[in-house]
Amino acid sequence: MNRETVIVLDFGGQYNQLVARRVRECNVYCEIYSYKTGIEKIKEMNPRGIILTGGPNSCYEEDSPTYTKELFELGIPVLGLCYGAQLMQHILGGKVERAEVREYGKTEVFVDTTSELFSNVSPTTTCWMSHFDYISQTAPGFRITAHTADCPVAAAENADRQLYAIQFHPEVLHTKEGTKMLYNFVRGVCGCAGDWKMDSFVEQSIRAIREKVGDGKVLCALSGGVDSSVAAVLLSKAVGDQLTCVFVDQGLLRKNEGDEVEAVFGPEGNYDLNFIRVNAQERFYQKLAGVSEPEAKRKIIGEEFIRVFEEEAKKIGAVDFLVQGTIYPDVVESGLGGESAVIKSHHNVGGLPDYVDFKEIIEPLRDLFKDEVRKAGLELGIPEYLVYRQPFPGPGLGIRIIGEVTAEKVRIVQDADAIYREEIAKAGLDKEINQYFAALTNMRSVGVMGDERTYDYAVALRAVKTIDFMTAEAADIPFEVLNRVMNRIINEVKGVNRVMYDLTSKPPGTIEFE
Ligand code: XMP
Repeated sequence: MNRETVIVLDFGGQYNQLVARRVRECNVYCEIYSYKTGIEKIKEMNPRGIILTGGPNSCYEEDSPTYTKELFELGIPVLGLCYGAQLMQHILGGKVERAEVREYGKTEVFVDTTSELFSNVSPTTTCWMSHFDYISQTAPGFRITAHTADCPVAAAENADRQLYAIQFHPEVLHTKEGTKMLYNFVRGVCGCAGDWKMDSFVEQSIRAIREKVGDGKVLCALSGGVDSSVAAVLLSKAVGDQLTCVFVDQGLLRKNEGDEVEAVFGPEGNYDLNFIRVNAQERFYQKLAGVSEPEAKRKIIGEEFIRVFEEEAKKIGAVDFLVQGTIYPDVVESGLGGESAVIKSHHNVGGLPDYVDFKEIIEPLRDLFKDEVRKAGLELGIPEYLVYRQPFPGPGLGIRIIGEVTAEKVRIVQDADAIYREEIAKAGLDKEINQYFAALTNMRSVGVMGDERTYDYAVALRAVKTIDFMTAEAADIPFEVLNRVMNRIINEVKGVNRVMYDLTSKPPGTIEFE
C-alpha cells in the first residue's frame, strides 16, 4: 500500500462502514477488513493506523472474535471502539465485565481534554453509547481519559504506545464531537497528511486507467444513474473515443429521462462520447405482456437488458474491457474487502454478459463510498442534478406498476411521478426526502368527474427518509403539498381518479412497492 491508509478491523459492528466514511471525511483513505485478516497481511499493508470496531459479542467469552496481542506491539497507533475498546483492554490485561445497567443512547461524557484524542473537544460532551459490558479495570499502563455517570471508563489510553480505547461510538452523528475525535486520531496521533481528496483521486484514476487500457476498446453500460455516469465520464477522460457507452431505454424510465440522459451524454451533450441510445421500449413491453409477478418482471427486464447490450457489443466487435460501476459498499458486502476478489456481477447491468467478448473488467469506483462518487462526479463536471439524483431501481417503473406492465400504465405513472417530483421540488422538500416517487396500484375504483362516472386507477405516493435504505420512515410531507399533488394528478393525468399516500415504514414495508 503506497497510499496513506488507515484500516478498520471489523468485529461485526453495525457501524463499521460509517467508521471508514468518517475517517475518509478527514481526507484519510480507509479500508475495512475482517478481524480474521492475519497479522502478516496487516504488516504487509503497513497502515498508518488501525481502528477496531464495535461488535455484538462479549470479549471475555470463549469463541468471541479476538486478535493476537502482537497487533498492539507493531508500533502502529490503534484505536478501539466499543467492543474494540473492551477487547484491547481484555487482551492487554484489563478487566471487562457485564454492567448492571445497559448504557444506551445519547449520554453525557466527561473527557480529559489533555488527551490528544480529545484535543479541542468540550470537557462535557454528548456521545452515543450502546453497551452491556464495561471496562471495570484498565490494562496496566493505561490512564482513564473519559467517564460518564454510569461508566467509569468511557475512554482510556496509553499515549506512549499510541493505544486508545473509547467505549462510545464517535462515528455516529449523535456523538456530537465524534468526527473531531476521529480527526484527532488519524491526523494527530497517526500523523496522516490528509491527501485523500477527490481531485487527486480523479487524476490518479485517469492515469491508472490509461495505463491499463492501452489502445484497447472499452464498453460501458450507461444508465444515467450516478455510479454509471461517473464511471463513464472518468473512462471517457482517460481513453476518449476508445470508449463506447450504451444506454438502453427500456421504456421504464421516468418521464423524459431518456432524453435527459441523451442531452447530457449524447452527441449534443457535454462530453465527447461514443454514445449509443437503444430505444428498446416495444421489445420490453412485449416480453412483459401478461406478467404480473414482481420477481418474474425483474428477471425479464434484467435478461432483456443483457440481450440488448450483447447485441450492441457484438456490433462494436472485440471489446477488451467492460466498465462496471461497483462501489465500495458492494465490495465490503460481497465479502469484506481484501478477503475476496468477488466481483458483484449483477451490479447496475443486472447480470454480466459473459458471452460478450471482453478480457477484463474495469471498476473505477471500487474504492469509493457513494458520497465520494458524488464528489468525484462534481470534480468531473457532471451536472449537479445528475450527481444528486435519488436512487432509481434497475427494473425502473416495471416494479412501480403493480401487476402487468403496459405502455398505457407506464404513461400514467410517468406523468403522475413527474407532477409529484415537480411539487416536492417546488416545496423545497427534495433535499430532505431521500427517495420519493409515484407508483401505480393495480386497483381501479369508482369516482365521479364532471357529471360522469369514472372507473380509473389509484396512484400511490411514497416518500421516505432514510440513511442507508435498509430501514426507512415515511416522510411527513405537509398536507397542503400532498393536496396540491393530488389535485394536479387527478386533473392532469388521464386514467387516475384516486391518489393515496403510503405511510408504511421499512420494515415492515420495503421502499419500493414490489
Ligand atoms: P427496497 O424496496 O428493497 O429498496 O426497500 C431499497 C433500495 O433499493 C432500490 N431497489 C432496487 N434497485 N434493482 C435496483 O437496482 C432493484 O430491483 C431494486 N429494488 C429496490 C430502491 O429503489 C431503494 O432505493
